[in-house]
Amino acid sequence: MVQLHDKRFEVFIEKAAIDERVQALAAQIQADYRGMNPLLLGILNGSFIFAADLFRHLSTPAEISFIKLASYKGTTSTGNIITAIGLEENIADRHILIVEDIIDTGRTLHSFLPQVLQQQPASVKIACFLSKPDARVCDVQPDYTGFDIPDVFVVGYGLDYDGQGRNLQHLYRLSDNQ
Ligand code: XMP
Ligand code: MG
Repeated sequence: MVQLHDKRFEVFIEKAAIDERVQALAAQIQADYRGMNPLLLGILNGSFIFAADLFRHLSTPAEISFIKLASYKGTTSTGNIITAIGLEENIADRHILIVEDIIDTGRTLHSFLPQVLQQQPASVKIACFLSKPDARVCDVQPDYTGFDIPDVFVVGYGLDYDGQGRNLQHLYRLSDNQ
């Protein structure tokens, strides 16, 4: 059990299981992208550990870059608008693999994907460490998923609760015993 701010969290997925799964995902990605020199696009901050672990297990040519997504209230009925900060690579004609920590409602990627497609990459796929299928509001289908999890709040392995917990090695879930 760990305490972060006012909340208690309990181990949900152990580090050994995470490592094994990430390695398996990397093997699958490597096979699918052989000879394609994919550009992994990690979404900061949450994906930095997953992206690093995934990337270091690829032994064929691949590149990586990180972006931040900033969300601001749109003036139209579409609600929040998401923009990418820090995308310096030219992604036209590149094979892009977006790397996310977690897909929850799907709103973030649903809003961001059209902006990626607009730049005419050769292909776009999504790798997420975690997915909460039961929480989905927008139709976003990850191509590579570490773990499908129920709709519970999780921290560790890059994910935070109000800034804390990213450095936890296991994945933790909010405990029922607060
Ligand atoms: P959507 O709902 O747009 O959200 O798919 C994705 C983003 O929401 C954050 N998120 C979480 N962060 N534990 C976290 O630490 C969670 O259980 C969780 N669920 C969603 C996260 O930043 C993700 O990129
Ligand atoms: Mg995130």
